[in-house]
Amino acid sequence: QKTFSLWIFGLLFISLSGAHGLSKFPENFVVAKRNDSSPVTLTCSTKTTGHITWKLDGEEIDVDSGDNFQQDSSILTVLEVDTPTLGEYSCWRGEEMLSSTYLLLEAEEEDALDSLLSCRAKSYDCVFSCSWTSSGYELVRLGLGQDCSEDEKSCHWISSSDLLSDGAFQFEVSHFLSPYTEESTMLVITAEAIADLSILRRTTRFYLRDIIEPDSPQIVRCQEMEQDLNVTIEPPSSWSTPHSFFSLEHQIEYELKDNGKTGLSSSALIPKRISKLRVRSRDQLVLSAWSQWTPWKNVTH
Ligand SMILES: *[C@@H]1O[C@H](CO)[C@@H](O)[C@H](O)[C@H]1NC(C)=O
Ligand SMILES: *[C@@H]1O[C@H](CO)[C@@H](O)[C@H](O)[C@H]1NC(C)=O
Repeated sequence: QKTFSLWIFGLLFISLSGAHGLSKFPENFVVAKRNDSSPVTLTCSTKTTGHITWKLDGEEIDVDSGDNFQQDSSILTVLEVDTPTLGEYSCWRGEEMLSSTYLLLEAEEEDALDSLLSCRAKSYDCVFSCSWTSSGYELVRLGLGQDCSEDEKSCHWISSSDLLSDGAFQFEVSHFLSPYTEESTMLVITAEAIADLSILRRTTRFYLRDIIEPDSPQIVRCQEMEQDLNVTIEPPSSWSTPHSFFSLEHQIEYELKDNGKTGLSSSALIPKRISKLRVRSRDQLVLSAWSQWTPWKNVTH
């Protein structure tokens, strides 16, 4: 039953998105509010005068015959926005297209951006990555900075570098924060996502230090001492340098040879009689998220 309805949903989804075929973010668009019956006006950008006709998705709009459209020289008013009125509006003088804009509907999504987008920085260097994890969106873009949250036009939008197979989008975001000063400015991230001619627009703010999550460190050496094993761990190559300034703390998990029990250690010295170990790291100063564990490493001695 469930697979069947998913299958139907999939078909429906393909046919709906196929019908509109938005392959990239439209340059111009107007967003109609959901559950708001007020009219929306679309303006044809032209400096010259003369008769203008409007098309919706390539089909000429007969303003006189329907009762949902009104035209006043270069302005088209959509009296009531609903699904059939969404799409690409273009205005024409004869054979010449003057301008075009999309009419989109505000998305119904209720989740906050934090639950749709997850960002992570491997270091304090100038790039971090974000992934958009909510499936079902055709197009997603991100903007960094106040400009993007206030004014779409002056924002430098970042498009996704990869569309992952499960419908997630991956982004690389460059920032200009100095890694050496205490961070007092929050990063402002705005996301816009389109699905089926609906658009979601959300902004979130965070400090870079809040999204720090180092890569896994490296186990360089295990040295047998009299009593213990001395494990030497080095930061991952992606971590910020100098390492004396950007210090990581490590944690070692090991399995005892004798009884198979596991233990955790924050010090480099661990019991000698172990069969395997793995390590992870986090920023010592801000107590960031822990890195992933390294793979288990067998210890033979
Ligand atoms: C919009 O209308 C739908 C159905 O009429 C309703 O379920 C939804 O809660 C409304 N949304 C808002 C933001 O009012
Ligand atoms: C463990 O090894 C590191 C690096 O080889 C060394 O600097 C450190 O002094 C050793 N620790 C002890 C307790 O011997």
